Amino acid sequence: MNQPQSDPYARWHAAQLAPLWNSPNAHKPPPPPAAAHIWRWEETRPLVELAFRETSPAAVQRRVLQMLSPHSASPADEYTCGSVLAALQCLLPGETARPHRHTMNALRFLLEGSGAVTLVDGKECAMEFGDLVLTPGMCWHEHRHDGKEPVVWLDVLDVPLHQHLGTIVFQPGPVTDAPTTMLDAAFASPGIVPVAIGGRRDHSPVFRYPYADAVRALRHAPPSPDGARRVRYVNPLTGGGAMPLLDTAMLQLDAGLRTLPARTNANLVCTVVEGHGETRIGDQVIAWGPRDTFTVPQHHWVSHRAEGETRLFIVSDADVLRRLGVLTEEIQSAP
Ligand SMILES: [Fe+2]
Repeated sequence: MNQPQSDPYARWHAAQLAPLWNSPNAHKPPPPPAAAHIWRWEETRPLVELAFRETSPAAVQRRVLQMLSPHSASPADEYTCGSVLAALQCLLPGETARPHRHTMNALRFLLEGSGAVTLVDGKECAMEFGDLVLTPGMCWHEHRHDGKEPVVWLDVLDVPLHQHLGTIVFQPGPVTDAPTTMLDAAFASPGIVPVAIGGRRDHSPVFRYPYADAVRALRHAPPSPDGARRVRYVNPLTGGGAMPLLDTAMLQLDAGLRTLPARTNANLVCTVVEGHGETRIGDQVIAWGPRDTFTVPQHHWVSHRAEGETRLFIVSDADVLRRLGVLTEEIQSAP
């Protein structure tokens, strides 16, 4: 006598098989783009002060407040926007953050204070307002603050991508087998680089990009098709991105400019360096000022408007998508 057939869906489920015709994703329209979020400096700065009072790098290694997306599912779901994770890190005078290295690429962008340095594979990089300091994957890095006032900087890492790929490696100090580095002065003349270069070429041998250099380049940069002026931080050995998985740029908006709407499938984290304005992101309009940080999630039409001359520091995963052949970038034509 034949046994009655049990529920086929239950049998597929028990065998780790899923019918595609019931998939929440396949053959369905994509979900709407995620909402943008802003961390306003006037709100986050007092919370940084709270971190100064609550703990120290001696106790926790890094005094860091991660900027987690409001769409993050749990504290373990560490991302700010797409595959970009941003945070605020701060040091008091006399403090140090001891050396370590990891596969994740990281960068620092100084927002407040003066006198701190980051050592990258032993090379000392000053950190002054608006400076970008790279700590590429598996480069030893530590921080030291010899100044007189607190320092606060933006950290940005590609942690979410490494979590997805299962490629996270972390190694605490002490520093061992640090490679030989070259002085940044060896790359100070555009278009001229040393011939005898050993070691890795997948990241820039220059770790510090002073703000004054970015401002000078922007002053002479022609407008992009949307009307904004843009410069990109690159590896002088290759002309490609300064680090493999995080794309970095500075955008300048001239006074009164409204950029043409643009759309990309890359995810952006934007920090306002100087100036006031607003950004339309889909149906949202976000007003911003100095040291605010906001996200631009993928797939939105985006337009910026500046009240005065304004500069934004932008980190994105665009170069990852470009090299995978899946980056899309669109711009609406002028009316
Ligand atoms: Fe680190």
